[in-house]
Amino acid sequence: MSQSNRVNFGSKLGVILATAGSAVGLGNIWRFPYMAGHNGGAAFMLIYIGCVIFLGIPGMVCEFIIGRHVSANAARSYLTMGKGTPFSIVGYVGILTSIIILGFYSVVAGWCLQYLMASILGHLNGDSTYIVNYFQTFSTNPLKPALWAVLFVLLTHIIVAHGVDKGIEKASKLMMPALFILLIVIIIASCSLPNAMKGIDFLFNPDFSKVDHNVILGALGQAFFSLSLGTGCLCTYASYFNKHIDLLKSATQIALIDTLVAIFAGLMIFPAAFSIGVSPDSGPSLIFITLPRVFLQAFHAIPIIGYVISILFYSLLALAALTSTISIHEIGTAFIHEEMHLSRKGAAWIVTIACCIVAVLCSLSVSSSSGLMIHGKSLLDCCDYITAQVLLPLGGFCTCLMIGWYVPRKVVKDEFTNWGTLRGKLFHVFVFCARYVCPILILMIFLNQFGFI
Ligand code: TRP
Repeated sequence: MSQSNRVNFGSKLGVILATAGSAVGLGNIWRFPYMAGHNGGAAFMLIYIGCVIFLGIPGMVCEFIIGRHVSANAARSYLTMGKGTPFSIVGYVGILTSIIILGFYSVVAGWCLQYLMASILGHLNGDSTYIVNYFQTFSTNPLKPALWAVLFVLLTHIIVAHGVDKGIEKASKLMMPALFILLIVIIIASCSLPNAMKGIDFLFNPDFSKVDHNVILGALGQAFFSLSLGTGCLCTYASYFNKHIDLLKSATQIALIDTLVAIFAGLMIFPAAFSIGVSPDSGPSLIFITLPRVFLQAFHAIPIIGYVISILFYSLLALAALTSTISIHEIGTAFIHEEMHLSRKGAAWIVTIACCIVAVLCSLSVSSSSGLMIHGKSLLDCCDYITAQVLLPLGGFCTCLMIGWYVPRKVVKDEFTNWGTLRGKLFHVFVFCARYVCPILILMIFLNQFGFI
């Protein structure tokens, strides 16, 4: 498809919000707190922030450059930019990765829908044991969570089938500010609970003695997952950017918003977890067992406020998840639509069906009786681990190498400086990161993880 008849995002704000909408999602609010809780809190957070600055932002700019330069889906972009080299397959791998991610992501997004429903019906009322049991009973039910997950993929499908400018951009513009405000309200509630200080301490007082290779790889994977890096997602979105978007500035702004939301999520969850005696390393169920207690306990004097906030929160969480799933879905849809000459709707259906299959399998594996376990881990955990901790950093690694070493410097500079209209003061720093810092750090983290250094 030629550049001129491709749809673009309407405005700079639209670009930032749509891409930030992709970045901000369950990765920040569900995954970050449980990864941080599992990996020692503050030390994890500091390493995470380091990964965002030194690997995430340059990685994002690399993907933006590829996407905007070729103005096509991820597979075509990598194929064109990495012609004749192994880099040319990175886009295809990214598309496959995105299907797996969308599959397991929708399961957790489906849990949010269930919690939204339960909030509306007032079912999340009870003591801590009740809330823990509630999650257990629900998530191990074979049918219900799978249906919610499929419903979530279908919701994503509807928006993606409507196209980039109408669906994606509009949804993000409304939601992002609302989410921010609500997070602040809940942080205040959570921090007002007894013993909340312990949670704040856990998040901001680093204990580096707990840092091992798992923590570092965990933080790297989390940074990539949260910034939507490594699958060609940003590349696909950047193919809808116009020529006036400052790529470095946008990447920095998005990374900043994304990191703030993750820290806010930590501030919302850990004080509450410590206050009600839930262990911060309770894993993927962490937000589902702490937050209902916050809503009940912090607002016990006026229960209706807790009731309303609970509904608002799960709606916003589901919406934040939706702006992310849209972006993941779009990777595959854009590819099939443009390369296989199917209509947008037809292309979207293929991705939807593939994702529903992964989602149902992942959901069934959580209800442990189904036997879909690998080494004692549910399929959902395995998909999460393999994509975030292996495939995404690998995708980012190849992307940085390709931009740093293979793509002609003039092309990179033109995209970075918008054809000389920007000063591009940091161009050399960026190239240095893409050539050396990012690939070497990612390689070292991998080697360290697998016991070579
Ligand atoms: N970044 C999103 C989140 O934090 C998830 C996401 C969207 C994603 N697009 C992606 C993850 C592409 C990996 C690759 O929830």
